[in-house]
Amino acid sequence: MADLTTNYLGLTLKSPIVVSSNPLTYEVDNLRRMEEAGAGAVVLYSLFEEQIELAEMGFSGYYVQHREELPEALRHVADMKEYNQGAGSYLAHIYQVKHATTMPIIASLNGYYSSGWIRYARLIEAAGADALELNIYYLPTKATVTATEVEQMYVDLVRDVKQSIRIPVSVKLSPYFSAVANLSRRLVGAGAKGLVLFNRFYQPDFDIENRAIVPSLDLSAPSELRLRLRWVALMAGQVNADLAITGGVHSATDVVKGLMAGASVTMMASAVIQNGIDHLRTVTTELQGWLDGHAYESVKDIRGCLSHIQIGDSAALERANYLNVLRTARAPKQE
Ligand SMILES: Cc1cc2nc3c(=O)[nH]c(=O)nc-3n(C[C@H](O)[C@H](O)[C@H](O)COP(=O)(O)O)c2cc1C
Repeated sequence: MADLTTNYLGLTLKSPIVVSSNPLTYEVDNLRRMEEAGAGAVVLYSLFEEQIELAEMGFSGYYVQHREELPEALRHVADMKEYNQGAGSYLAHIYQVKHATTMPIIASLNGYYSSGWIRYARLIEAAGADALELNIYYLPTKATVTATEVEQMYVDLVRDVKQSIRIPVSVKLSPYFSAVANLSRRLVGAGAKGLVLFNRFYQPDFDIENRAIVPSLDLSAPSELRLRLRWVALMAGQVNADLAITGGVHSATDVVKGLMAGASVTMMASAVIQNGIDHLRTVTTELQGWLDGHAYESVKDIRGCLSHIQIGDSAALERANYLNVLRTARAPKQE
């Protein structure tokens, strides 16, 4: 049987199939079931910067009662109680999960700047997390903010967090940077041991009848994987970090593609939410079957075989691909 073991962030994982941050990770029993179903590791739901700020202000726990006393920007955090229980409980959750499972547990912080991050990063480490994923989400909506300033903020944040803890740090990135590869390299220079490509964003929708902007959440489709495959294939070998794919991984075929691009792990959220935790068992069995059927001894045999550095054919991944696709496209006949 092919060996599924992989290394990610200096940790040994029994499988490259990892569950990414999502609400199923709120229940300890779900994490136990994910491990039994074959998950190599789990990234916990995020603790949000706003929740840390509330905790630091002494509002931990009873957000709803205090809602009206809060600054405008923090009022929506009261409603997040439905998503998770806030800063204090997050640490207790890590502790409980670590005692209920043996797989690596990756905690997640979501925000863009907060001095509270450093303190919580330390507490997260003390609670027993094996690694910390930083989901840095800053929307530079002001035309006065430059790309250089935004990128520097990301780099500083990673450096500050990394300098205050010993566990490995990964960064979950957005694809919306003008120079993703360069920023990635700088983040690695600042201490990131892993890069998670790419975050998905939930763009608000317009309700035309009520003239309102409404939140909307769609689960991913497998076609979203392609953006990630391309960038992981381009970055593998260019940046000295472990690469993880998140976004559009639904099947064993997707996992194989991710590994071939050069990822150390492929993460799943939507597919597990959609099909249930047992889907991890199906994907693991199919991955094993595919590797055995092709006489590969381990996932290492395929990792990076389609990366930029391995194929040496940059055209397939770069601008020429775009031109080729357009050249071969046929518009449907018009009546
Ligand atoms: C309902 C839901 C909640 C999520 N919550 C978080 C979160 O708290 N932190 C985070 O970094 N990502 C969160 N994500 C993003 C996922 O971890 C993942 O990166 C994204 O859904 C793309 O992967 P997928 O195609 O496998 O769903 C969430 C996704 C879903 C669907």
